[in-house]
Amino acid sequence: MFTQSVLTNTNLSLPLFIQGKVRDTYDLGNQLLIVATDRISAFDVVLSPGIPDKGRVLNQLSAFWFEKTGHLMPNHLIEVVDDVRTLDSYLGKSSSGYPSYLAGRSMIVKKVERIPVECVVRGYLSGSAWTEYQESGTVSGAPLPKSLLESQEFPQPMFTPTTKAKSGHDLPMSIDDITRQIGKALAEKIREKSLAIYSYAREYARKRDIIIADTKMEFGLDNGELILIDELLTPDSSRFWDARHYKVGQSQPSYDKQPVRGWLVQSGWNKEPPPPPLPPEVIETTARRYREAYERLTGKKLG
Ligand SMILES: Nc1ncnc2c1ncn2[C@@H]1O[C@H](COP(=O)(O)OP(=O)(O)O)[C@@H](O)[C@H]1O
Ligand SMILES: [Mg+2]
Repeated sequence: MFTQSVLTNTNLSLPLFIQGKVRDTYDLGNQLLIVATDRISAFDVVLSPGIPDKGRVLNQLSAFWFEKTGHLMPNHLIEVVDDVRTLDSYLGKSSSGYPSYLAGRSMIVKKVERIPVECVVRGYLSGSAWTEYQESGTVSGAPLPKSLLESQEFPQPMFTPTTKAKSGHDLPMSIDDITRQIGKALAEKIREKSLAIYSYAREYARKRDIIIADTKMEFGLDNGELILIDELLTPDSSRFWDARHYKVGQSQPSYDKQPVRGWLVQSGWNKEPPPPPLPPEVIETTARRYREAYERLTGKKLG
């Protein structure tokens, strides 16, 4: 039987910059090597096993969007690692060669000073914003018209930034909070750029039957110049919905993670680690969803 390889752990002999839930990032001095693994999380817990091709989808979608939005904002991408020999010029030649799993799932980026704000933009009323709206009629503290429905599109996208909490939940930030941290000019610029990038991507995706309900981006300073960093408009940093099944007035299935969430809920798991292992058919369906998202958005087969 054909089995696909799944990468859930990297162990390169390089200094680790940060290990996140999904990506392993290595410190190259003035650059970073970001490796997207096939790990998947749901309900804030990393599941097992991983999802074949998820890391490649994440990496290549970010790269796709960095290229597409380059006219709106410069970004940290230096090079996508399509071939591991690319790494020779950044890391020096390795006698044994670099692991082939890095191809397609990793990128070299500029390491910069990051701005400690999660720049969230929402186009639709969903998730924590829907919860807040039901309780107080506001989103991120801003009053909204009464009688909006769940998953309803806002008249205009909203910038709803949060802190980057080291542990626990991110907290909402106001433009004044951000101004106090980085000054008025920069605060205004990240707001304006976040909205511009989201709006551009949303229009683009909508024509390809994907609704980007909301997303989160991060910025950094490259010798004083504001640039986009981290990942961009991936299913891990955004809510993707299938436009063909969108129905206002209810919660929408996640384009990518619904098979996993659905299965976990019906399994009766109490959401405490360890989670039950995902069965093969759920893994297969989920892998297909990620590839489909990539192919719909880019119009290309996954490389
Ligand atoms: N070009 C960059 N320069 C410096 N830091 C970066 C850059 N790109 C991303 N980062 C930081 O790397 C970290 C990546 O963490 P991530 O893998 O997303 O894990 P987490 O689950 O903690 O978010 C984030 O803190 C992000 O701000
Ligand atoms: Mg992150």
